[in-house]
Amino acid sequence: MRSAGGNEAWLPAIVLAAKLAPARPAYCDEVDGKGMAQLFTPQATTAFRVVLALVPVSLAVLGAVAYGWARSGPAWNVGRPAPQPIPFRHDLHSGSLQVDCRYCHASVERAADAGMPTAETCMSCHSQVWAGASVLEPLRTALALNQPIRWVSVSRLPPYVSFHHAIHVTKGVACETCHGRVDEMAKTVRAETLSMGWCLECHRDPAPRLRPRDAVFAFGWRPHDQEAPQDRQALDRVAAKRLTSCSTCHR
Ligand code: HEC
Ligand code: HEC
Ligand code: HEC
Ligand code: HEC
Ligand code: HEC
Repeated sequence: MRSAGGNEAWLPAIVLAAKLAPARPAYCDEVDGKGMAQLFTPQATTAFRVVLALVPVSLAVLGAVAYGWARSGPAWNVGRPAPQPIPFRHDLHSGSLQVDCRYCHASVERAADAGMPTAETCMSCHSQVWAGASVLEPLRTALALNQPIRWVSVSRLPPYVSFHHAIHVTKGVACETCHGRVDEMAKTVRAETLSMGWCLECHRDPAPRLRPRDAVFAFGWRPHDQEAPQDRQALDRVAAKRLTSCSTCHR
């Protein structure tokens, strides 16, 4: 049954509410009194519009600056040494003493990892030279406890990137090309960003940056010193396809 009386029952209440409520809010009178209230001066309005327009522009500029910084050398720790347990010096051992890289980084031509020297490797000389020196104390401790020395890496890549030393070294990419003048470093530092863009720069066209096999351990080598590698053409074809595909480095 439709209850018409139901609606009518509300009517007095609505009428009462309408009577009690003020016809218009008081502030309407104030506004009417002066015409449309001028809350902001025209100058302020213009300034506000300028600010509004500048917000996206400055956000874009900030973004560009932040991006530029994130992709620049300092953000990749280029040139910044890491704290090491022993103040080892490449300039002395590789530069002056001319110890072969492979004496300490033994797997660099055979494996993904270059390998790091054990305490025994250092002791082959330092059981005689500087034998009691206090800077070499961590060496003696490592040897006594049969523990590895905890060197801090300056070139570690994120875990989702796969890198392989042997592939590069055997194809003629020199240590110097990626690690810089290690033979002149008193403290080992990162010489290149090792960013994806840096890897790809070479992978798009590696041939001009390759050396003959016997020059990969050399420093200060110049292309005109020796003839270029034979297999340039083959490499260009490889470079065009596999070397730039995502799954080559991310698998
Ligand atoms: C082939 C021999 C040899 C090997 C291997 C070797 N050293 Fe040395 N090391 C030397 C000689 C020689 C000196 C210089 C002594 C001098 O100039 O009085 C030296 C000096 C040092 C010094 C002092 C540097 C300074 O002047 O401040 C440290 C520290 C050092 N070596 C650490 C190491 C460590 C760590 C290893 C292993 C990763 C190692 N060495 C492997 C021969 C070697
Ligand atoms: C006597 C041993 C020894 C020799 C020879 C040697 N290194 Fe090293 N290398 C080390 C030690 C120890 C470290 C770790 C401490 C440091 O970074 O200074 C290291 C670190 C490095 C690193 C940094 C790796 C990282 O992830 O931080 C690079 C690159 C490197 N060596 C390249 C070379 C090259 C290139 C040569 C040959 C010119 C060479 N090393 C010769 C002992 C040696
Ligand atoms: C194509 C560039 C490239 C070349 C060439 C190269 N390296 Fe590396 N090296 C790297 C990168 C990238 C890392 C960091 C690897 C990682 O974190 O997985 C590295 C790491 C290292 C390390 C630290 C230990 C390790 O294996 O992670 C040593 C030592 C090293 N390189 C020595 C050498 C020596 C010696 C040579 C020359 C025979 C050489 N590298 C040639 C790019 C290169
Ligand atoms: C200066 C040149 C150069 C740089 C820099 C370089 N590479 Fe390479 N890379 C090569 C060459 C040359 C090969 C071997 C191509 C071939 O198979 O003949 C190679 C091969 C590889 C391979 C094996 C590809 C395959 O499937 O056979 C991987 C993975 C790789 N590079 C990763 C990297 C990463 C990651 C970086 C940066 C951290 C890097 N490379 C930097 C030149 C370079
Ligand atoms: C030659 C090796 C190489 C190839 C090919 C490559 N990458 Fe990378 N990628 C790297 C390295 C090295 C890093 C770590 C350094 C960095 O962030 O730039 C990286 C980082 C990244 C990151 C993380 C970036 C960040 O800012 O954290 C993404 C996402 C990525 N790669 C995607 C890709 C895609 C998609 C492709 C294919 C179009 C690709 N990569 C091909 C070497 C490579």
